[in-house]
Amino acid sequence: MWWKSAVFYQIYPRSFADSNQDGVGDLPGITQKIPYLASLGVDALWLSPVYPSPQFDFGYDVADYCDIDPLFGTLTDFDQLVATAHHHNLRIVMDLVFNHTSHLHDWFKESRQNRRNAKRNWYIWADPGLDGGTPNNWESVFGGSAWEWDELTGQFYLHSFLKEQPDLNWRNPEVRQAIYAVMRFWLERGVDGFRMDVVNVYYKDAALRDNPLVLGSGISKGLRSYDRQRHIYDRDQPEMEQTLGEMRALLDFYQPPRMMVGEIMGEDTGIAARYCASNQLNLAFNFEFSSSGWRPRNFQKIVQKWESTLGVDNWPCYVLSNHDIVRHVSRYADGPHAADQKAVVAAALLLTLRGTPFLYYGEEIAMRNVKYAREQIQDPFGKQFWPFYTGRDGCRSPMQWSGAENAGFCENAKPWLPLAPDFAERNLALQQENPTSIWHQYRQLLAIRRAESALQQGEFVPLQQRNVESMVFLRQTADETILVALNFYGWEVTAHLDQPLPSGEWQTLYNTLAEQPAPAYVPQTLILNAYQVAIWKRKP
Ligand code: NOJ
Repeated sequence: MWWKSAVFYQIYPRSFADSNQDGVGDLPGITQKIPYLASLGVDALWLSPVYPSPQFDFGYDVADYCDIDPLFGTLTDFDQLVATAHHHNLRIVMDLVFNHTSHLHDWFKESRQNRRNAKRNWYIWADPGLDGGTPNNWESVFGGSAWEWDELTGQFYLHSFLKEQPDLNWRNPEVRQAIYAVMRFWLERGVDGFRMDVVNVYYKDAALRDNPLVLGSGISKGLRSYDRQRHIYDRDQPEMEQTLGEMRALLDFYQPPRMMVGEIMGEDTGIAARYCASNQLNLAFNFEFSSSGWRPRNFQKIVQKWESTLGVDNWPCYVLSNHDIVRHVSRYADGPHAADQKAVVAAALLLTLRGTPFLYYGEEIAMRNVKYAREQIQDPFGKQFWPFYTGRDGCRSPMQWSGAENAGFCENAKPWLPLAPDFAERNLALQQENPTSIWHQYRQLLAIRRAESALQQGEFVPLQQRNVESMVFLRQTADETILVALNFYGWEVTAHLDQPLPSGEWQTLYNTLAEQPAPAYVPQTLILNAYQVAIWKRKP
């Protein structure tokens, strides 16, 4: 299937390219950049939401699922984007946010009119609890109770995120049918798949039971109250299996084949894997790299665990950065120089693993996370938790296209978020001119992945199980073997392999810096230079 061998690239539309000079990126801006994205060598684009929205959560609060927000353009612009992308062999994946709508969606406006309204039961309404307070102890991910009192109709409604994002009632078959109609609407417009927002949160316990508290969490002050609970009743309910099965059947009806990738909230990758089994999601994101320290042992453990949890019938999917987390170069950096070198090691890892990689815009030039002052913060999550947590704006700064005004993102307009301070030295135009830049490394790695079927389909065989001081592994099919060696550190590392390398002659496909010698190797030992990345192919 195409989505197994594809490399996806996430676009945060507000921050990618502004064609109409209002300081916010838009669809025609993305369309203009399609030739660039095709030349980079990615295969599919995931767009964060572009639907009409009051933008309380920057588009993750949808007021109409079947239109485009004027901020981003029109449906005609969207059709143009899809046509241009397809012309360049790029696929388009839409973000579907179905746990909740905006409070300004017509469905919710009706639902809150009165208790007898036909759409009342499209959302989760409840009477006060016995003590006259909220119906239960559920907390919002964005802070505070998940229940909001509605004065007019004298009941609470549930919102797992902002109060401007009321949760849909997935137990209502009318809701499910309306949502399936939305999916068909976009599939018939030619989109190739969907990224499903917080897909394990749709269903909640029908009896609205209290979540138990995490033992001992009361004393950890840093924790959000959401993190002090075990979410056994407000997410991961058994009904989701059937719903995902129905969605999958709907998708599988279309040709050429479509796909869906799910965002699963929570740390437990076992739960994420469950949503891939028996014809549910095609892919589930694994977010463990986002909390892993920069140690090869950690990465290898995550990969081996994900491989074994998913089993042979399901396909892995990895991500280093996205619009909700600190950019990985900044997470892993401990000095400006090392940051760039680590960016290449991380890219090589992501692009040589068995599984579908998702890149995040700007990652290809190692854009850093930006530190914004309090008055610049836009993210509601950042505003709520400042100064303990400054929010998600830092990874959403405008794309750094060039050294021109506003980095070429917009002209004569104030960008919705200030540019990163380093854009004059770190931008695409400069990196395109420099053959040793990170951008060229990404491009080369993408080209190798595209050319080598063993990198797309081959088995993942780690060559060190003890003393994992670097990551050395094979990607192997019946006919081809690729060897990958990654040194995560700024010093020479000797990798002692648990098994001899398959015999034969090896051809170098990639070696971090051209002037560096290929690593010396004897059958069971590899000596890797500082931050060295090397990829070899066994000659047939
Ligand atoms: C997950 C999205 O990735 C995030 O950006 C958003 O705020 C929440 N879902 C709520 O929709």
